[in-house]
Amino acid sequence: MANRKYIVGNWKMNGLQAQLSDIAEIAAVAAAHPTVDAGICPPVTLIAAASQASPGFAIGAQDCHFAAKGAHTGCLSTAMIKEAGATYSIVGHSERRADQQESDADVKAKAEAAHEAGLGAIICVGETEEERDAGEAIDVVCVQLSRSFPDGASADWLTIAYEPVWAIGTGRVPSVDDVAEMHAAIRTKLAELMGQGSDAVRILYGGSMNGGNAAELLAVPNVDGGLVGGASLTAEKFGPIIEAAGAF
Ligand code: 13P
Repeated sequence: MANRKYIVGNWKMNGLQAQLSDIAEIAAVAAAHPTVDAGICPPVTLIAAASQASPGFAIGAQDCHFAAKGAHTGCLSTAMIKEAGATYSIVGHSERRADQQESDADVKAKAEAAHEAGLGAIICVGETEEERDAGEAIDVVCVQLSRSFPDGASADWLTIAYEPVWAIGTGRVPSVDDVAEMHAAIRTKLAELMGQGSDAVRILYGGSMNGGNAAELLAVPNVDGGLVGGASLTAEKFGPIIEAAGAF
């Protein structure tokens, strides 16, 4: 049986209090499409207000620390984001892997910490353009996935997002065949890593997904949803992606 589609907006470093109305509008679109799981990961400063304003709509964090507490200036623990109202966290986004030098081991520890706190985790993996051009995309992503993979994984809290780095914020999207090949490889790797139950782990595609290409991407085998950046900032842009997911 096909997995329920899962559409998550990653607001990155965008959004002030004035944009809470956009989250409320997006939550209303999501409520109108009950066959789709949809959510927004706003900046941490908006998590509490957004989760209070739209109960039942899945608000997540964009990152969390792997330690429960301690001397980590500027960081946020899983308990902190959970208390604010997040029910899951993105971990290992390529921007954090690049900007904050997060390693696969960090990402694994973060996913495990999220689970321990009762949160879901969306682990991001993806190759650079150089790696794709060198024909190494599948190997790179499968190694990244293996090394970032949390102990005790199960589909009720773990999601994988395949985000080719060169497709993020560029308007460039891999061909449907390339997406199909990568998602099939990730599915095979998941079966190897966790055995039974791996088919139910949702694999999202991320990188320049928008209202115009969502239907085509979501129709690719093993694409169980999308992780959306720029096109998730307003209901006008994000709504059509949720609607496209509702057609499956
Ligand atoms: P864009 O949709 O803006 O390309 O960003 C994708 C992304 O990085 C989501 O995490």
